[in-house]
Amino acid sequence: MHNVRKVTEDVYYVGASDRRLNLFENIYPIPNGISYNSYLVLDEKTVLLDTIDHSVSRQFLENVEYVLGERTLDYLIVNHMEPDHCATIGDIVLRYPDVTIVGNAKTFTMMKQFFGFDVDGHSKVIKEGETLNTGRHTFAFAMIPMVHWPECMVTYDAADKILFSADAFGTFGALNGNIFADEVDFEKEWLAEARRYLANIVGKYGTQVLGALKKAAALDIRMICPLHGPVWRENLGWFIEKYQTWANYTPEDHTVLILYASIYGNTENAVNALAGKLADAGERKIAMYDVSVTDPSYLLAEAFRCDRIVFACPTYNAGIFPKMETLLAELAAHNFQKRKIVIIENGTWAISSGKQMREILSSLKGMEIMESTLTVKSSLKDEQLPSLDEIVNFLTA
Ligand code: FEO
Repeated sequence: MHNVRKVTEDVYYVGASDRRLNLFENIYPIPNGISYNSYLVLDEKTVLLDTIDHSVSRQFLENVEYVLGERTLDYLIVNHMEPDHCATIGDIVLRYPDVTIVGNAKTFTMMKQFFGFDVDGHSKVIKEGETLNTGRHTFAFAMIPMVHWPECMVTYDAADKILFSADAFGTFGALNGNIFADEVDFEKEWLAEARRYLANIVGKYGTQVLGALKKAAALDIRMICPLHGPVWRENLGWFIEKYQTWANYTPEDHTVLILYASIYGNTENAVNALAGKLADAGERKIAMYDVSVTDPSYLLAEAFRCDRIVFACPTYNAGIFPKMETLLAELAAHNFQKRKIVIIENGTWAISSGKQMREILSSLKGMEIMESTLTVKSSLKDEQLPSLDEIVNFLTA
């Protein structure tokens, strides 16, 4: 059975959601599932914008067949060649052998790497600023390299003022009938997952995201149709502003985030004592996570949200406890920057995790790191309470 919704009078949502997959890209937990969005336009010519992941291809192909009815598919515009969107291109070509595939030069280089069909026999290569007229609609193409791959582009429909934004403005989470952001409580139910998506998927490429936003700012956009998550037709400015904040590595909230590793509970005890003192000093909504318990993708997103971060970690194999080391590597890999930082180390002998954490954190741009590291020798002692006060003073100054 088909499962489609109208986006505008002649634009249809033909994507599908996967609620079975545990790990998106085989790395990011997606407890709320994921949607793979695809859009079909019934103009004088028919146009499909991107395909979807193999896992939900049956639903997708049924949707496309239903919307097309007796018609065939004239064009397939490929904004992104990552397999969560391109996997079904081969099936589309098999079903609609006369389809013309529209993409840029890099799109087709990648398509030949992924597929064995006659790519050249179907391709129409476009460049930045070129357009495709299909009757009522005129589609213009703009390149957004590294948001999220080098070949990425967006397509702007001048007729309905829709930006088909590829991975940009995407969100983790399956679509539950409500395909529009204004049909859900986005801020309460979706924002954290949108942040986690942005931070993890394109967080590394803040400059390129800002470049894409600059291009978008020149257009009159009434609707944003991303490849994951809800379609935006109201309050676009609010979400675009969130993207600007994240891409600039600007904290969203004035909040202390405490990220700790603890083997036998002594480092955890130290940060609990610190958190209590922070609360006494007036800090509210303190966020605290055990890095061995929470997946790094959530911690990265929280780091993008909060403006002050405490890293507390025992020494392990003469180095940083592995779960914390993984998190720090993630932060560095995603170009994380511009935060106020406190370092707490622990160890029973040859304590070195603080020095090694400082080396990694100092290499990140714009970090204001408290000069002294609090060293816990096995467990926090009463005489160290003034050191916690110094940390509170540093964080609340
Ligand atoms: Fe949703 Fe970069 O693919």
